[in-house]
Amino acid sequence: MPLTVPPRVLLGPGPSNVHPRVLSALGTPLIGHLDPAFIALMEETKTLLRATFLTENTLTLPISATGSAGMEACLVNLLEPDDVAIVGVNGVFGTRMVDIVRRCGARPVAVEAPWGRIIEPDAIATALRTHPGAKLVALVHAETSTGAWQPIEEIAPLVHAAGALLVVDTVTSLGGCPVRVDDWQIDAAYSGTQKCLSCPPGLAPLTLGARALAVLRARRTPVQSWYLDLTMIEKYWGDERVYHHTAPISMNYALLEALRLVHEEGLPARWARHQRNHEALKAGLKAIGLELAAQEGRQLWTLNSVTIPDGVDDLAVRKALLEEFQLEIGGGLGPMKGKVWRIGLMGESSTAANVLLVLHALESILPRCGYRLAVGAGVAAAAQRLG
Ligand SMILES: Cc1ncc(COP(=O)(O)O)c(C=O)c1O
Repeated sequence: MPLTVPPRVLLGPGPSNVHPRVLSALGTPLIGHLDPAFIALMEETKTLLRATFLTENTLTLPISATGSAGMEACLVNLLEPDDVAIVGVNGVFGTRMVDIVRRCGARPVAVEAPWGRIIEPDAIATALRTHPGAKLVALVHAETSTGAWQPIEEIAPLVHAAGALLVVDTVTSLGGCPVRVDDWQIDAAYSGTQKCLSCPPGLAPLTLGARALAVLRARRTPVQSWYLDLTMIEKYWGDERVYHHTAPISMNYALLEALRLVHEEGLPARWARHQRNHEALKAGLKAIGLELAAQEGRQLWTLNSVTIPDGVDDLAVRKALLEEFQLEIGGGLGPMKGKVWRIGLMGESSTAANVLLVLHALESILPRCGYRLAVGAGVAAAAQRLG
């Protein structure tokens, strides 16, 4: 019996729905990971990744593992024992970075903000003053656990003035909202394939700039992780083509096809689509009395955290969405567990039809869960925004 799964509309925190061209790329016959034809595809992938990160960085490639490996690769390659790393912590992923920094034998300095709020640039400036030798500052651009959109461009000059590197998590922003690695002077950034790039999970695009490369080259100690050591990985993705590990061929096909789709649409058009659909969803939610949990003015286009109304059963609503509408949304994490739903509008999942579907589904389920609303008001408000 061939494998079958239910057809789902993926509006959670990732993965997002995948374009049929990406799915069929996965079924392309295998060739060897050192085959000249595969090497040609690797070159195209690097070029398209640079165009997506908006960077000229030579060292731009997909790490063979999920977004967390991109995070770990940046930190293990740039940190050595006893280095100080300042990390913005306002959700799950900053917390994860602190854990990795500690496992590198380095010393994390957590700059905390309440979940749903951004890390204020002033707080980073203060941390840089109190820890003058800090090696890097790490921030999550799009905090998927809360929906907060961290400003990056105003922080980079503070970080560089203090002689530190800026590392940015772009897992939930790359391909969905602007990420300008060179303009914003980001030294190292990583992402994941399963969010706004609309590819299955499994690879972590990563880019390292000149300042970060100089730090990598000047290390006193070997990179603590063999698998994520960029000094070896760059020899496979660079001109030398030295075997390091067997590249996941099919996933690389899928990423390349997903990147081609990103650039066929064009980044500005893609960002505008994500913005339009987010704004329509927000208007629709507001019309039925639901609010976004992240700080006003700093709400992501790609991930909407919605405050669950008092008395409504989180799980019952998500179960009904899945069973009756084939629609997946996410629950809250950590202190937001049971308090928010997370509605992702990422990549192929960010469509006007999906905005209207999720609003219609909520309007039909919520009244049964004890929440009174004007049925049809949410869909009408969103439809008006969508034109
Ligand atoms: C902001 C952010 N960083 C890192 C990760 C980790 O990525 P992965 O789950 O692909 O390992 C995620 C995953 O949701 C994320 O949203």
